[in-house]
Amino acid sequence: MEYQKKERYANIIPIAELDTSEKRLQPFPVYNQLRNSTPIRYDESRDCWDVLRYEDVHRILKDPVTFSSVRELTGKGTATILTMDPPRHSQLRSLVNKTFTPRVISDLAPHIESITNEMLDAVKDNNHMDLVHDLAVPLPVVVIAELLGVPPRDRELFKEWSDILVKGPDTNSDEAFSQVMKEKERAIQELNDYFAKILEQRRVDPKEDLISLLLSAEIEGQQLNDMEIISFSVLLLAAGNETTTNLITNAVRILTEKTEIQQQLRGNPELIPSFIEEVLRYYPPIQAIGRVATTDIEIGGKLIKKGNQVVSWIASANRDESKFVEPDAFITERRPNTHLSFGFGIHFCLGAPLARLEGQIAIRTMLNRMEDIEFIAGSPLTSIQSPFVYGVKQFPIAFRSF
Ligand code: HEM
Repeated sequence: MEYQKKERYANIIPIAELDTSEKRLQPFPVYNQLRNSTPIRYDESRDCWDVLRYEDVHRILKDPVTFSSVRELTGKGTATILTMDPPRHSQLRSLVNKTFTPRVISDLAPHIESITNEMLDAVKDNNHMDLVHDLAVPLPVVVIAELLGVPPRDRELFKEWSDILVKGPDTNSDEAFSQVMKEKERAIQELNDYFAKILEQRRVDPKEDLISLLLSAEIEGQQLNDMEIISFSVLLLAAGNETTTNLITNAVRILTEKTEIQQQLRGNPELIPSFIEEVLRYYPPIQAIGRVATTDIEIGGKLIKKGNQVVSWIASANRDESKFVEPDAFITERRPNTHLSFGFGIHFCLGAPLARLEGQIAIRTMLNRMEDIEFIAGSPLTSIQSPFVYGVKQFPIAFRSF
């Protein structure tokens, strides 16, 4: 399949202002400038609207009737709750909500702690590690693989696939775009084949995992079909990986950029949950969320036409001075902290309790076991190649083990 209709995939194309890795490492001044000059703008090259103010982003996310999540899917993708509207969205979501409540998730804490400790044991004698490779990538993968019921030993494969799923083209050329779309198509096909095999196994030998639960679940007397279960598993694997990895890395990035905060948390570990919320606001792992207008609608004096794509920049909304006091300052105890990093409304992140817990445990365990955590000066720092996921490829740190 050729992907010439670039405009249908506005979310995948980087905005022109963020065309280098340096700018993608610190995109916030660009968002601030755009929000103040053109808070709602139509970008011809991507054929979509960019929305940058908190109030407008919030309004869009809370109105799924006017702003639909249904969109053209890349390659061999099938709709998931992320790309559905009610009523199907509500039916599927209520099926899985129970698995991800804060209560159920908090029971996982001791297990997540022991996995984190194992990963830190492996590097403790070196007094240095690549945070991304040694902890931030494997921790969320192992946790979600166990929940789903797939072998954690396949984690290298999961990482490779989920990197491709969030990838954007490195340049704005048609060739680069087509290349990325083909890679995505291949990754989705491989993921589909992988999960199809697991489904076959669980059908004859059900276990206490999410895939077995989905296989036995019914909505109004009807079972989910295989493709629905496979796509949902792929969504969890991808949504649960890249995002939480970057939450952990972004949190440690703050600890090394602002060493006074490292000291503050060592003395006051009870501040770790609000620290994580501020990391989410300040360095949000997901920068933007796409919707499609279902009707002509006016926002901030601009007429968005039915069928137009709308990209809501949560990373900009989180820095909106009309919503947050001193938005460019990192304030560990910020209250209230109504960031939009997990979205808002009916699509609010299903995995938020899990991501928060993993982030808190990773930071608490690191601070308990490592003194003077610092970025290894001179190491290259490159942003990951994605227009909507915010993070770095490697993050080498040095420390003294306790
Ligand atoms: C939805 C962010 C971790 C599963 C979302 C949305 C955002 C988001 C912004 C809303 C998308 C939209 O409105 O279109 C994040 C961030 C995470 C994270 C920043 C980590 C820091 C996770 C984890 C899982 C997960 C760990 C699963 C285990 C999902 C699912 C949805 C979702 C299934 C779709 C919900 C729906 O459409 O009803 N996430 N996520 N996420 N997230 Fe997360």
